[in-house]
Amino acid sequence: MRIGIAADHGGFELKERLITELKTLGHEITDFGANELVPDDDYPDFVVPLAKAVAEGKVERGIAVCGSGVGAAIAANKVPGVRAALIHDCFSAHQGVEDDDMNLICLGGRVTGYNLALDLVKTFLEARFAEEDRFQRRLRKITDLESAR
Ligand code: RB5
Repeated sequence: MRIGIAADHGGFELKERLITELKTLGHEITDFGANELVPDDDYPDFVVPLAKAVAEGKVERGIAVCGSGVGAAIAANKVPGVRAALIHDCFSAHQGVEDDDMNLICLGGRVTGYNLALDLVKTFLEARFAEEDRFQRRLRKITDLESAR
């Protein structure tokens, strides 16, 4: 799968480890930075370009990591067409895709350990939107809101 990934200093180490493993699994990874650990960098500088790439279909799914995952989710969801969520559990990692068509997962590099983060990402990537009428109806209510802006 074509996957984009981004992180600030709070998520940098987790991002690097995830990239290595996801490449091993055969995914095509676009890294939106940070390219080095800079303790004062700002998550919107990396997360917004990633979110735009997801919205434009340049990558199929996105992974954004900051210290808590909160700022990454706030920033990503400002981009129309992005459905991002901060995920801590495997149920939400797949149900968020199946029911809500989540296309960008946010993780907290200071919260979630590597092994769980990898499980969450794999679960997210394997899940598919269920496309049932009620899920489509709910998504239309969100896209209507975006286009009314
Ligand atoms: C940066 O120190 C930290 O505030 C940021 O990575 C993130 O946790 C914001 O939500």
